[in-house]
Amino acid sequence: MGKNTIIEGGRFPKHIAIIMDGNGRWAKRRLLPRSVGHKHGMERMIGLMERAFELGVEYITVYALSTENLKRPKEEIDGLFNLMRNHFREYIGRVCAKGVRLRAIGDTSLLPEDLQQILKDSEAETAKYEGKGINVAVCYGARDEIVHAVNRAIEKGEKVTEESFANLLYTEGIPDPDLIIRTGKEVRLSNFLLYQAAYSELYFSKKMFPEFSDRDLDKAIKEFSKRTRRFGKTDDQLKK
Ligand code: FPP
Repeated sequence: MGKNTIIEGGRFPKHIAIIMDGNGRWAKRRLLPRSVGHKHGMERMIGLMERAFELGVEYITVYALSTENLKRPKEEIDGLFNLMRNHFREYIGRVCAKGVRLRAIGDTSLLPEDLQQILKDSEAETAKYEGKGINVAVCYGARDEIVHAVNRAIEKGEKVTEESFANLLYTEGIPDPDLIIRTGKEVRLSNFLLYQAAYSELYFSKKMFPEFSDRDLDKAIKEFSKRTRRFGKTDDQLKK
């Protein structure tokens, strides 16, 4: 288990979800192809995962590819698939080797078969690990996830509760994110974890993802620790 060395008192986020936006703009500003931005983004994500686990974060969920992203030009999508094909196992494997369970969330049936297999193998190899997890959202869309869950409930023929419905989502068994970080200047959730984000703290950074440093992550965690999470209650109720 990692050690929180950056905050004294306040809350520490167990689960951080990250919207890694701005890889393309980062590359464009440097007159580089977008694919180079994605490669740097992937490398930065691995660095942030290592930092987060070192501090004691238990779950990290990464928005790697949305259902909407699949509509990008074929060349860019193929580039992203190749990046995953060539580097996913090596990079993610390095983090998972330290006892981290990997889960893919999303409609992975939309991926090329070899990529589906890479994800399945990584899930199977790391299923033995408990306590720490990386969730990679690929071909993920929150509306798609909710519709999929509703259809599963209909098939079961059972009424749902908030808890039983949560267990029909791709994130079954994973606690809701405490903190959602989005880089790249935009201030929106873009169809990410809409059900699970009901009480998440949101943190937006103007930095493009490849330049979001470990220190920036520390800053986001420090800010989270200072926020009061009321979950709909009053301050007085929280003091009891
Ligand atoms: C957003 O930047 C990023 C993406 C659409 C893809 C990111 C995915 C990867 C780098 C591969 C998988 C990574 C891991 C860690 C499993 P953008 O292209 O939308 O940037 P822009 O808004 O500047 O154009």
